[in-house]
Amino acid sequence: MAQVSRNVQWHQHAVSHQQRLARNGHQPALLWFTGLSGSGKSTIANALEVKLHQAGYQTYLLDGDNIRHGLNGDLGFSDADRVENIRRVAEVSKLFVDAGTIVLSAFISPFSRERQAVRELLSEGQFFEVFVDTPLAVCEQRDPKGLYQQARRGEIANFTGIDSAYQAPVAPEIHLRTAEHSIDQAVEQIIEALTNAGVIPAAAE
Ligand code: ADX
Repeated sequence: MAQVSRNVQWHQHAVSHQQRLARNGHQPALLWFTGLSGSGKSTIANALEVKLHQAGYQTYLLDGDNIRHGLNGDLGFSDADRVENIRRVAEVSKLFVDAGTIVLSAFISPFSRERQAVRELLSEGQFFEVFVDTPLAVCEQRDPKGLYQQARRGEIANFTGIDSAYQAPVAPEIHLRTAEHSIDQAVEQIIEALTNAGVIPAAAE
């Protein structure tokens, strides 16, 4: 995005990124959960955060429904608004990563281009695209908020999977096939990936 702010200078802060990391005992990372509404993004991210938090790691969960109550409460579900939604969340996520946190961001984030832009905001090895791969039919069957029913009745426009596109990730770092696995298994799969990538240390035997 083009910067329009003028006469602003970047300040070098006295406490460095490296100093913040040294306190934590783990590397910062951004786990970017993408998938259809009702796919289980928030549920899995919540369960994962509980585990990471219990292990003593610094975590923070950013979630579409919650962020749209505050920071992004001015945005709807047009393509342009979804792009702006993701852009802002990406910048916020990046700040938390700079603070040394393991960030869990759960947003439909339906467009590949925006997800690629988030990836490019971060340093090599810090971004993990987590594809919560739940078939539309399963999401629609669950319909936890009754939104699919409303979308089918034409009461909600631009609903992802119904009359708005979802571009599935092609090469996600972590691919969760939720129809075949439990939430606990999904959480274990992510923890294993984080361990293999050196974000968190291997559990002591
Ligand atoms: S995103 O597409 O911009 O990434 P985001 O994750 O923030 O979406 O918000 C999705 C949530 O908003 C859904 O889980 C659902 O509860 C609600 N929602 C309301 N209207 C829509 C819509 N038209 N399409 C998708 N989700 C919607």
